[in-house]
Amino acid sequence: MTFTQERTIADQVRHDFPLLDQEVNGKALVYLDNAATSQKPQFVLNTLRDYYQQYNSNVHRGAHTLSNKATDAYEAARDKVAKFVNAASRQEIVFTRNATEAINLVAYSWGMNNLQPGDEIITVVMEHHSNIVPWQFVAQKTGAVLKFVELTPEQTFDFEHFKTLLSEKTKLVCVVHVSNTLGCINPVAEISKLAHKNGAKVLIDACQSTPHMPIDVQEIGCDWLVASGHKMCATTGIGFLYGKQEILESMPPFLGGGEMIAEVFLDYFTYGELPHKFEAGTPAIGEAIALGAAVDYLNSIGMDKIHAYEAELTAYLFQQLDKIPQIKIYGPYPNSKGEGRAALAAFTAGEVHANDLAPLLDQEGVAIRSGHHCTQPLHRYLDIPGTARVSLSFYNTREEIDVFIKALKDTLDFFHSILG
Ligand SMILES: Cc1ncc(COP(=O)(O)O)c(C=O)c1O
Repeated sequence: MTFTQERTIADQVRHDFPLLDQEVNGKALVYLDNAATSQKPQFVLNTLRDYYQQYNSNVHRGAHTLSNKATDAYEAARDKVAKFVNAASRQEIVFTRNATEAINLVAYSWGMNNLQPGDEIITVVMEHHSNIVPWQFVAQKTGAVLKFVELTPEQTFDFEHFKTLLSEKTKLVCVVHVSNTLGCINPVAEISKLAHKNGAKVLIDACQSTPHMPIDVQEIGCDWLVASGHKMCATTGIGFLYGKQEILESMPPFLGGGEMIAEVFLDYFTYGELPHKFEAGTPAIGEAIALGAAVDYLNSIGMDKIHAYEAELTAYLFQQLDKIPQIKIYGPYPNSKGEGRAALAAFTAGEVHANDLAPLLDQEGVAIRSGHHCTQPLHRYLDIPGTARVSLSFYNTREEIDVFIKALKDTLDFFHSILG
């Protein structure tokens, strides 16, 4: 695939996404719920189909051709993911079911074994539930204490507040890279640097950044980073944990069973090498291979180009939303080029509840999300019951934003006509 400047990325990739070419409720689908899950290009779907049609077999234990082929493709996918995030070695990538499982792996394997009463875990009020609840489990079991960084008036990560929370008691800092609700891009490299200075480990939730911008774990300097394949053009059922090799080596296995062992006796076992030590049981083989294909696909466009195009869309989205008086968007504003935040907008619309907006927009073929987006503590902090969220991807167009804006205006007019 070669990308030209004259046509937008969306123009050039649109035909790769067959699902987008359909009508919903009699209207052309406008899919703007990408932060929940992305659509899948045909190349990824074909890769998954080819695995099941041509070389479906179990990995790592085969003495036959199909198994060797499946193993090669599965391990090649690991290499692709390692390169995609610039891990120092392939041993640093563990396949998981999703980001949530990856965080739980760290919580159970590292958190439960390294934290003690009085130790502190710092996280942020904007976190997704999957980066709060596992740490609540750990705190309940170990006696560690959870501390939360608050927001600046612009609704971004409050670095000054973070500094006041850091102390010799801080053992872990868990931060989302890009908030799925506020859209802010957190300064994860600076956070990691300061946390490390204080002797704390750092986990980054990169669910909303890996699909939209280049990621370099060595530049960020984090100890762990997690992401979900289904948000980055791959299928559900696959995600990954990046971990620094020496830290993963020091951690005990999370789940026990086949694949993760070296030897098993009736009364004990020894575990295998990284990364297999953390991949108990038959993994999601086809899905991992498809994740490798998704990485190839994203690379073929270029993460820099994706980020730049999505910034253009963001600028346009904000310009249009800003023209509607009742709309209040949460999180920081982008600059005039759409830079400085992610390509999503969570908003309220005066007295019209978000949960009433989404079904009516759906009648117009427009798919957005409403509710708390798994950030209940953030919504409580902001003192709002819920938000409507529109979230973009590189296959979306300005014309789709126009359709969304028109549907939103019509819906608000309808509510105002009945509310008086
Ligand atoms: C920021 C963030 N973290 C974590 C998750 C959890 O992802 P998954 O449900 O795929 O594990 C999500 C999903 O919406 C998210 O947006």
